[in-house]
Amino acid sequence: MLRVAVLVSGGGTNLQAIIDAVQSGRITNTELVGVVSNNPGVYALERAKKAGIKDIVISPKDYENRDTFNQALIETVDSLNPDLIVLAGFLVVIPPAMIDKYENRIINIHPSLIPAFCGTGYYGLKVHEAALARGVKVVGATVHFVDRGTDTGPILLQKAVAVEDGDTPKSLQQRVMEQAEWILLPKAIDMIANGKVTVVHGKVVVK
Ligand code: GAR
Repeated sequence: MLRVAVLVSGGGTNLQAIIDAVQSGRITNTELVGVVSNNPGVYALERAKKAGIKDIVISPKDYENRDTFNQALIETVDSLNPDLIVLAGFLVVIPPAMIDKYENRIINIHPSLIPAFCGTGYYGLKVHEAALARGVKVVGATVHFVDRGTDTGPILLQKAVAVEDGDTPKSLQQRVMEQAEWILLPKAIDMIANGKVTVVHGKVVVK
């Protein structure tokens, strides 16, 4: 069984998609061992509780500085003994020491077709605002492994979604979630849990 820790910051709809997929058997060979949030009081924590998954809050506000928070974050994640860490709307920069320790064992969902609309400053609704401002006709989502850059790691899965007339950032965000994110992230976990994915020279190879 692949031990999966999910890191969240907000509503947790991607977390819910993972929980649903484990419960319905669309993700196999996987145990959700913990949900970690940097924000207390977010709905993602309720989703974890309802599913009987251990929920942990670790807030930067409770630490003297970034270094002590980063150290505590790594210790918290280590305590779950995960095989895979899933960033499901986790908006904290992952400490380099954690990236090195969990090389090719951290995946992230990003709400664009990388390399479009990604990197520092592109997260959540801002991604969709930028896509609409640029006038692109196709957007989408990407699941990638996390390296030391921002949204630069090896790409595992991508799915395109059409922009429609009259879209607002919110309507586009919702469609990208429904048509891409909530499908891709469970699929990526299932592929990894069943030994179908390796990273070779910085690129994903699927068996
Ligand atoms: C999702 O759209 C996810 O792709 C995005 O935050 C949202 C979280 O929603 N992540 C990023 O922008 C990371 N750069 P959720 O809490 O409902 O899953």
